[in-house]
Amino acid sequence: MPTIQWYPGHMAKAKREAQEKIKLVDLVIELADARIPESSRNPIIQEIIGQKPSLLILNKADLADPTVTRDWEAYYQRQGQQVVSLDAQHLRSTKAINRVIQEQMQDFFAKRKAKGIKPRAIRLMILGIPNVGKSTLINRFVGKNQAQTGNKPGVTKAQRWLKIGKEFELLDTPGILWPKFEDPMTGHHLALTGAIKDQLLPMQELALVLIEQLRQHYPGLLENHYQLEVPEDLSSSDYLIQFTQAMNLGEDFNQAGEGLIQDFRSGKLGALSLEFPQDEVD
Ligand code: G4P
Repeated sequence: MPTIQWYPGHMAKAKREAQEKIKLVDLVIELADARIPESSRNPIIQEIIGQKPSLLILNKADLADPTVTRDWEAYYQRQGQQVVSLDAQHLRSTKAINRVIQEQMQDFFAKRKAKGIKPRAIRLMILGIPNVGKSTLINRFVGKNQAQTGNKPGVTKAQRWLKIGKEFELLDTPGILWPKFEDPMTGHHLALTGAIKDQLLPMQELALVLIEQLRQHYPGLLENHYQLEVPEDLSSSDYLIQFTQAMNLGEDFNQAGEGLIQDFRSGKLGALSLEFPQDEVD
């Protein structure tokens, strides 16, 4: 299977830009995909965030297996990482997130107050790989009462801030990071969830990965959904052949694979996760 390459130049630029933005804020909201929390986080993120408070949001939780998402939350909490899961697309109010952020920043502002520094809004930014829901979340934060504050003096690159009530100011452009592919499975998971472009990997091969994963973690699911009758010990490629025939697609394995992947991405197969916290222990 081909490995996916990003240009190191892109990676370095994205990192530099994110680092510049982080200097301006009090807290970083890092967005990941709840179906693939590890693959959708770039390992350099911790390095970029440094000591700054951060909130990890497992977004698209509506598409992920709720039990597994709870396991991930517990997993990250054990690491001392503040975490919440979310469906940004259908979010009506960001009150719950606002509360978590305010709690997290309480000490910081109490210390400032003790020093006689005037209170001010908490400055936030959103950071994550492409397609993880950054713009959607920004829109939810800002809602209908969109208001922009002016550029801040002393900041070389013009940065626009969105005022969210009196409590928060949010950088209007999110930090975008390239995903990092240390093992090929990361690339497959990113492609399966639609985080990276379809053309990078052949559908047929991706579908084989999906079939393998779903049969391992959700036995019987594909058979029930598509009313397939297949022997349990069938290899993934033979499974795809049978699936393609059951879909009346002859030998068009690519089209069958694409259909399967679309059904997974859209949630038609149900709310399913591709990564599990115990995988991290292996
Ligand atoms: P980005 O800024 O990080 O690149 O992501 P963006 O907000 O544009 O979101 C990417 C896609 O994911 C959008 O779909 C958006 O509606 C969807 N999305 C964001 N948050 C959620 C969520 O919590 N649940 C679900 N189910 N979907 C979410 P789109 O515009 O249709 O793009 P695409 O799906 O065609 O890529």
